[in-house]
Amino acid sequence: MSGSVAGAVPAGASRRIPEGFLLGTASAAHQVEGGLWNDWMRMERQDPWRIKDGSSAAAAIDHLHRYREDLEMLAGLGQNAQRFSIEWARVEPEPGRFDAAALRHYADVVATCRRLGMEPVVTLHHFTLPVWLADRGGLLDRAAPGLFARYAAVCAEFLGDAVRWWVTINEPNVLAAVAYSAGQWPPHRRSPVAAMRAQAALLRMHVAATRALRDVATRRGHRVMVSIAHHERPFRPLPGSAAARLAAPLPHYLFNRWFLRSCATGRLLPPVGGGQHLPGLAGSLDYLGVNFYTEERVRFDPRAYTTLFVSPQPDPSVPRSAAGWAIDPDAFRRVLTDLWREFHLPLLVTENGVADEDDELRPAYITDHLRAAMEAVREGADLRGYLYWTGFDNFEWLDGYAMRFGLIAVDRATLERRPKRSAAVYAEICRSRVIPPCTPPPGAEVSPPAPGGRARPRVRGSGRPRYPAGRTGSPDPG
Ligand code: NOJ
Repeated sequence: MSGSVAGAVPAGASRRIPEGFLLGTASAAHQVEGGLWNDWMRMERQDPWRIKDGSSAAAAIDHLHRYREDLEMLAGLGQNAQRFSIEWARVEPEPGRFDAAALRHYADVVATCRRLGMEPVVTLHHFTLPVWLADRGGLLDRAAPGLFARYAAVCAEFLGDAVRWWVTINEPNVLAAVAYSAGQWPPHRRSPVAAMRAQAALLRMHVAATRALRDVATRRGHRVMVSIAHHERPFRPLPGSAAARLAAPLPHYLFNRWFLRSCATGRLLPPVGGGQHLPGLAGSLDYLGVNFYTEERVRFDPRAYTTLFVSPQPDPSVPRSAAGWAIDPDAFRRVLTDLWREFHLPLLVTENGVADEDDELRPAYITDHLRAAMEAVREGADLRGYLYWTGFDNFEWLDGYAMRFGLIAVDRATLERRPKRSAAVYAEICRSRVIPPCTPPPGAEVSPPAPGGRARPRVRGSGRPRYPAGRTGSPDPG
């Protein structure tokens, strides 16, 4: 491994993206499809006050019906990959009854991706559960791993050999923390112990689904790559605070490392388990899907028991997104190199993105983070691709539609799609396979890509990215 540039990603150098590197966007069924009935939809109906703008995912962006045009638009940006999730509740609306029309729908999504030259990256579980499973204990039901494996096997059989990249579970650490410890998502538990049990349950579900996917693939003589999408959110202690330095390793271990180290060792590591061997766990990751958004500066906080005694302490000198998350591309480089050095698994960035209402931050965010990713490659990381979160503005969980991560805006009244300036910037990168040395500042002239067509954006302007500093907002991961 070559000596790294300490502390900063070089801004001046352009970077060529390696041959075969996947470039695309990511999405999740509940956030885009509409017409769903699952534990989230039930919560949105029963407790609409929980969603900040009072909205729901009932219609979402109607991707269920518009997926062909939507995928054409994304392919028009020059993407060669696309991540999406299959909705368990749609495919298995009642226990043991699999819906052939739903399966045909997802098979067509996969086929459309392939026809448009985009490698499908398919997630089996992205935060939501069928109501019938939620009602019998959800993740904590003892039967959950077996039920999840059965669903995974049906999906693998049905989608045939067209899917190579699988994500069993999206962000198990976030789901366990937010739904079982912070109590904000269904099933609204507020117990760190329940959160640990949820992490263990998600681990067992991952193992069971991995085995099912591999069994189907082996029978068909097909090779698959299976992982989770791991959310990495480093907790960096505030400089000069010994208490923060002592407190930060525990949440880091439980949130960022427990799941991965359990997979690496094949054991249910303490404090969640007692170190017992779990058959099928070792080697259950063929690659490592990485979702990265931000790094947290933390201070010691004896009252913050649901976050294991650390609280975020925003650094006013670091620019922040509309979600209040610090923007620090060099933290991304560090995360990729750290994960590579510890686990030695091929990496795929399954999500990276920014909430930004007016698309002022996004062009620079994307180019800076891609440059950081290429720097990690230069330092030795085996990085296979980068998927921006997300193609279209969509339902951002408790934030409703107010938080916008998309390259393409969606008019809430008409659902009309309109590519933003950042779509043109991303399209130019996808087309040229070169990350520009600097990012067009807000106001620079950029032609948006034509819907459906190959993008030929004109990008003018120069200078370092300018982030409006000092924004604040919700610190919740999601
Ligand atoms: C990660 C989650 O997987 C995704 O569903 C969410 O929208 C983004 N983070 C942004 O918060």
